Amino acid sequence: MRVILIGPPGAGKGTQATRLAEKHNVPSISTGDLFRARTKDKNDPLGQQIKAIMDAGQLVPNEITVKMISERLDQPDCKNGFILDGFPRSVEQAESLDKMLKEKGIKLDGVIQIGVDDDKLVERISGRFSCGKCGEGYHDKFKKPADPHQCNKCGAKEDPKDPEASIWKRRSDDNEETVRGRLHTYHTQTAPILPYYDAKGVLKVVDGMAAMDDVTRQIEDVLDPKQGAKTLAPPKKFG
Ligand code: AP5
Ligand code: MG
Ligand code: ZN
Repeated sequence: MRVILIGPPGAGKGTQATRLAEKHNVPSISTGDLFRARTKDKNDPLGQQIKAIMDAGQLVPNEITVKMISERLDQPDCKNGFILDGFPRSVEQAESLDKMLKEKGIKLDGVIQIGVDDDKLVERISGRFSCGKCGEGYHDKFKKPADPHQCNKCGAKEDPKDPEASIWKRRSDDNEETVRGRLHTYHTQTAPILPYYDAKGVLKVVDGMAAMDDVTRQIEDVLDPKQGAKTLAPPKKFG
């Protein structure tokens, strides 16, 4: 399975990419996550330059992004496929990806647009947090951990009396001002790749306003309509 997920900030790209990756046993590759990992070292000048760009809601330059993706796709775990979350993000990046895939002899199975209204995105992003240990994503309203002080996935626990030692992490670009900048960047630079892929006949659209499980089902259906039809068919009669 080789799939690209496109959508504005907070559309659910990361959420759906993780689910697809687990189900199909392929890596989910998020350029945002790769860049965030690079920003952790305060003494790394390139990392700090990337952080400043991300905190302004702008795009990291193509020469850095395209090379990083090309190297990532060459890793052995991408042999049977990958889910791209957040790349490409401009027509120039889409063209670079086409060239790269051609050189590597790889064909895409689909490009999926996760459509969401802008006003919903701010609510989604402002409620988002993740486990600092395993990275599992949560939401204040839509996906709460069963225990507010413990991660459902890896079991990491925090001391409720010591908020400094919180296991929960919130992203530095998830403030209202940066989110507005990220949305502007999406509409001006990323949205033009939708007609680009539509003209190639590979674009599929799902309704990202639906509940998480529903969006997952829609994605499975558009990627494999036969499988989708099977799911929707009435139960078989025996005897
Ligand atoms: P990136 O990390 O990709 O951020 P983004 O595109 O702004 O998207 P998000 O990660 O915020 O949202 P998401 O769609 O993954 O939603 P999520 O699943 O978390 O990029 C960050 C920055 O890196 C960019 O601004 C740029 O600077 C740089 N960058 C990245 N790629 C680049 C590139 N190719 N070129 C140049 N620069 C690049 O969901 C959000 C929340 O909503 C979660 O809490 C989730 O639980 C909840 N949720 C999800 N789905 C649903 C649902 N159906 N119903 C209710 N809640 C839901
Ligand atoms: Mg994400
Ligand atoms: Zn965890």
